[in-house]
Amino acid sequence: MPNLTQLPAWQSLWDHFAEAKQRHMRELFAEDPDRADRYSLEVGGLFLDYSKNRITDATLSGLMQLARESGLPDRIKAMFKGEKINSTENRAVLHVALRNRTNSPIHVDGEDVMPKVNSVLERMGKFAHAVRSGEWLGYTNQPITDIVNIGIGGSDLGPLMVCSALKPFGHPRMNMHFVSNVDGAQLKETLKKVHSETTLFVVESKTFTTQETLTNALTARDWFLQRARDEKAVAKHFVAVSTNQKAVADFGIDPSNMFEFWDWVGGRYSLWSAIGLPIMLYLGEENFTELLNGAHIMDQHFRNAPFEQNMPVLLAMIGIWYINYYGGGSHVIAPYDQYLHRLPAFIQQLDMESNGKQVQVDGTPVNFETAPIIWGETGINGQHAFFQLLHQGTHISPIDLIASLEGQGSLPGHHEILLANVFAQAEAFMRGKTADEVREELTKQGMSGEALEALVPHKVFGGNRPTNTLLMHRLDPRNLGSLIALYEHKIFVQGVIWGINSFDQWGVELGKQLAKTIHAELTGKLKNAEHDSSTRRLIQLYRQANK
Ligand code: F6P
Repeated sequence: MPNLTQLPAWQSLWDHFAEAKQRHMRELFAEDPDRADRYSLEVGGLFLDYSKNRITDATLSGLMQLARESGLPDRIKAMFKGEKINSTENRAVLHVALRNRTNSPIHVDGEDVMPKVNSVLERMGKFAHAVRSGEWLGYTNQPITDIVNIGIGGSDLGPLMVCSALKPFGHPRMNMHFVSNVDGAQLKETLKKVHSETTLFVVESKTFTTQETLTNALTARDWFLQRARDEKAVAKHFVAVSTNQKAVADFGIDPSNMFEFWDWVGGRYSLWSAIGLPIMLYLGEENFTELLNGAHIMDQHFRNAPFEQNMPVLLAMIGIWYINYYGGGSHVIAPYDQYLHRLPAFIQQLDMESNGKQVQVDGTPVNFETAPIIWGETGINGQHAFFQLLHQGTHISPIDLIASLEGQGSLPGHHEILLANVFAQAEAFMRGKTADEVREELTKQGMSGEALEALVPHKVFGGNRPTNTLLMHRLDPRNLGSLIALYEHKIFVQGVIWGINSFDQWGVELGKQLAKTIHAELTGKLKNAEHDSSTRRLIQLYRQANK
C-alpha cells in the first residue's frame, strides 16, 4: 500500500500550498472570467459549482495526481467488481449492486449477487403494493395507516432522511414514524399517535442484536399484544429486515415476514436494500426504483468519468485539500430545503462512521488527519445561529450549500427568498468585505472619525471561505438518489487516499461492551464490577435515585 506522505504528489502539493494559501478567491475570480464555467459540472439532475474554493488549475492537477498515485483507479474497480475491500470483516462492499440497474453480473465468492438482489426487490414491491393498496389488512381487517420503523444508525437514518425528503411523494394514507432511541420517551410518544389495528411495525437491524432496537421492538410487541390479545395477529403487524434470519426467528417474527439483505451491505449504505422497505411503503415501488436509478446514474459517472470531471472525485479531493493541507477539521452540510432537514445527520453517520479511523488498512497508524467532523442544519436556520462563526470565526470549515432550483409546492414568494440566501451566502463567504468597503459603507451611513474606525475591524469579513453549491433541478427520488450516491463515493475516495478501511466501525464496540456490564449493575444482576472512581460514583448516584 502506498504511504501517502511519501507520494510525490503529496509533497508537491505542499510546495504548491505555500504559494496557494496566499491567494484570495476574489483575485482568482477577477483573473479568470470563465472560472465559474470551468469549475462546475452537471451529472443527471445535479449541478455542482465548485468555483468558490481555494483552488487553481495547479491545485486540481496536483490533487488528481495524488488520487492516481494513491491507486484510486484500481480501488474503484475493486469495489465495483465485488472484491473484499472491507478487509477487517473480510467482506465485499456492494451497495452499488443494489442499484445496478443494468443487471450486469457482480460476483461474490463466485456467485452472481444480482438474482437475489432482484428477488428481494420483487418481494418488497409486492408487499409494498399490498400494504399501500389496502389489500394487506390488520387483525381487525382494516388497512394500514401508520408505519413505525424501529431501528438505529443505518437502519434508521437513511429511511428517515429519504422519507422526510420525499414527503410530497408519500402515500396520503400513510403516516411514517421512526423510533431509534432506547429512551422510552420516543416509543411512548409514538405509540400515543397510532392504533394497534392499523399500524405496521418494521423492525430493521442488520445484525438483529442491537440492544436499542430489540428493546424497542419487544416493548412495541407487548403494547401490540395487550391490545390484539392474539399471538397470531403479530404476523399482520410486524415485519423484520435483517441479514440474520435465526435472530429474527428467535425474536418471534416469522421468517416469511422477513426481508433479507447481505453482509456485503454496510449499515450506513443500506437504504438501497430491504432496509429501504419503509421508503418503498411510503413512496411506492416506482419511486423507490427512481431512487435506485438516480444512484445508478452517479455510480456510472463515478466509475467512468475522468477524474478531472468526476463529481465525487472532485468533491473528495477538494475536501482532502482542506483537511490535510489547510487543517480544516470540520465540514458543514447546509441544505436549503426543509425536506432535507435530516440530510446533515445522515451524512454525519455516513462520513464519520466510515472515515473516522486512525490506522491504515495494514494496521499502521496514520500520520495525517482523516475524516472531518460533519455537522450542519438547514442553511437558513444556520444563518441565524452558527453562520457567524463560519463567516468571522477562526476555523476554516468548508460548506456544502444544497438546494433545488424548482420550488415545487413552495408557498408563493418563499422559494425566491430561500435561493437568494443560498447564492448570497456563497458570495459572502467567497468575497468577504474589506476594511475599505466597510469604511465606505459607514461613511455613507453618516459615521466618521474614531467611532467609525473603532467599528471597522468588527465589520470586516475576510472572505476566502470555501463553499460548494450543489443544486438539484428538483428534489425528487431520482435526484435524491444521485445526491446520496455522490456523498457515498466522495467518502469512499477520501478513504482510499488515506489508505483506511471505510467500511468497518470497530470504534462503536467498546461503549456497547461496557454498557452491558453497567446495565447488569444498574439492574442488580451484577455487583461491584471493576470501574474507575468516576464511573463507580455515577452508578451509585443512579442507585440512590432509583431505590
Ligand atoms: O453501532 C453502530 C452500528 O453498528 C451502525 O454501524 C449501524 O448502522 C447501527 O449500529 C445499527 O446496527 P444494526 O442495523 O445491526 O441494528
